[in-house]
Amino acid sequence: MGFNIGILISGQGSNMLNIIEACQANKLISDVNLVVSNNPDAVGIKKAEKKGIKTATILQSNFLKKKDFEDAINFELKKEKINLVCLAGFMTILSEAFIKKWKNKIINIHPSLLPSFKGLNAQSQAFRYGVKYTGCSVHYVDKEIDSGKIIDQEVVKISEKDTIESITRKILMKEHILYINALKQLEEIYIDGQDKK
Ligand code: GRF
Repeated sequence: MGFNIGILISGQGSNMLNIIEACQANKLISDVNLVVSNNPDAVGIKKAEKKGIKTATILQSNFLKKKDFEDAINFELKKEKINLVCLAGFMTILSEAFIKKWKNKIINIHPSLLPSFKGLNAQSQAFRYGVKYTGCSVHYVDKEIDSGKIIDQEVVKISEKDTIESITRKILMKEHILYINALKQLEEIYIDGQDKK
């Protein structure tokens, strides 16, 4: 049966779409049951709706406290019986309290080979540093930014001809492969959202 996945996005949602399509094509045994955006202009939401996925847009600006915003997200996730939260370009730092609630059940994709180049614009950080190899990482989310236990990584070589744009494109293509592989690995570890052991 796999996971009931909830995906949190803020933007174009290409990773989100890729996960939805992998589930719908039975490449994964999980289902995507909810997509939440914190951005009213996130084009990913329309893409999810077209695939028949339930969506919710929850804006932080509608709440006085961050806790209330996060409680609203949590409410939607619980309502849909989500047991794995996938962050895919979700541009808000979640509080320690939220992350604790989802311990070992919340993962993220980051466009660098962690622990290098954490935070924003990881692709440009790597390019500007002049590394010859970069890539992407799927990791558990913990209270430090981009620091949770790594589940899997993919490598991208940077050549002389590359630009920040070409590197960003190459990384994104690898992200799509990586996120599915990481989810497959988690499906192996857990059954029906419960630890096999
Ligand atoms: C990806 O580069 C991901 O690594 C980062 O945000 C971007 C999201 O892209 N966390 P998309 O919305 O999935 O296309």
